[in-house]
Amino acid sequence: MSTATADIYRPGLEGIIACETAISSVEGRQGAGGLEYRGYPIEELAESATYLETAHLLLHGHLPTQAELDAFEDRIRAARAVPEPLIELLRNVPRHVHPMDTLRTSVSVLAHYDPDLAASPTDHAANVRKAERLIGQMATAIAYRERIERGLPLLAPRDDLDHAANFLYMVNGEVPSETKRKAFDVSLVLYAEHELNASTFAARVTVSTLSDLHSGIVSAIGTLKGPLHGGANEEAWKVLEQVGDPDKAHAWITAALGRKERIMGFGHRVYKTGDPRARILKRYCQQIAHEAGEDRWERIAEPIEREVTAQKHLPPNVDWPSARLYHYLGLQIHIYTPIFAMARVAGWAAHVIEQLDHNRLMRPRARYIGQPSRDVEPIEARG
Ligand code: SDX
Repeated sequence: MSTATADIYRPGLEGIIACETAISSVEGRQGAGGLEYRGYPIEELAESATYLETAHLLLHGHLPTQAELDAFEDRIRAARAVPEPLIELLRNVPRHVHPMDTLRTSVSVLAHYDPDLAASPTDHAANVRKAERLIGQMATAIAYRERIERGLPLLAPRDDLDHAANFLYMVNGEVPSETKRKAFDVSLVLYAEHELNASTFAARVTVSTLSDLHSGIVSAIGTLKGPLHGGANEEAWKVLEQVGDPDKAHAWITAALGRKERIMGFGHRVYKTGDPRARILKRYCQQIAHEAGEDRWERIAEPIEREVTAQKHLPPNVDWPSARLYHYLGLQIHIYTPIFAMARVAGWAAHVIEQLDHNRLMRPRARYIGQPSRDVEPIEARG
């Protein structure tokens, strides 16, 4: 192809189709925006499928039978244990290091000890095994680091608890109520996959060079950390705390927008009429807020949503309700984005495997706007 070919340039690749995928769609059945994982509407998955059923759908391409789910859950439970050297490292990383950074490091360390380390990067079966192990291991790595941060003893994973309940137990030291377990599990289903978002794109670009799955996941974690992407759920909680009172929402939002600030938890590159995940999670938010005696935050969130929608026509995205839910579940703000990552690893891995199964190196072009072509002057002539 001639380098002179005038190609399409869209800042931020907005609206550009960069690959084809069978994993998820954000078009919705009427094309008006809606999320489906392998053809199943997110509303139905959130209601009727657990996170591990959803992860099986993403990785294996179909919802599991009961026997398949039992075997899958056994493999994830077996993968909850992490190597001792990683635990030692998590104990020694300085306290001020953000949990997204320790998660990124953890996945790099887990790669060193993965039984399929020597497998070819395009070995489909090995990649699925690596992905299943990461689903179990990442939850444990986040929980262990959190307990170390809090100066509390590590709690071993419990085989009698499902993925959602076990994580909450390993972090908080108590088995959650069924309503809290379900609400957290729904948040993991909603966070599990989202087409070609920035972190998924980063993962696909990484493995399109025939690099390995763990390297793709490390790229994705680094990308998700940013406040314009996964980091928004931490920032969304800070908005609620700063407003602090329903009667102050109008003045606070008006002032922030006046300063051209972005209100974290609102807006979306793809959903312009609302993020379906936010609508689903809001119901669970309200239920758990009441159970936790934290209704005041729902009373603060409502006028903020009204103000941002009225003044900027921007509806909430998934990070807006997830920040509140995680607060009600007793989780510290700094692990909100790591939780996003431990859910999204199923989607990231599915995309990595799809890329490696039908790979083409991703190498877009850049339009040059620098200095015109010129000759190098000898250093003595550079005045
Ligand atoms: C996630 O892509 C995915 O799928 C991501 C995700 C997933 O599941 O993987 O859905 C998860 O990342 C959700 C988004 C979380 N991020 C935030 O909540 C951060 C706040 N949101 C914004 O930064 C913004 O809405 C983006 C980044 C999410 C989307 O931005 P766009 O589509 O690139 O829009 P833009 O930056 O071109 O802004 C268009 C206009 C601008 O105003 P003008 O300069 O034209 O006057 O809208 C304004 C922006 O200033 N705007 C906002 C705003 N978002 C956009 N103004 C105030 N607050 C906001 N949140």
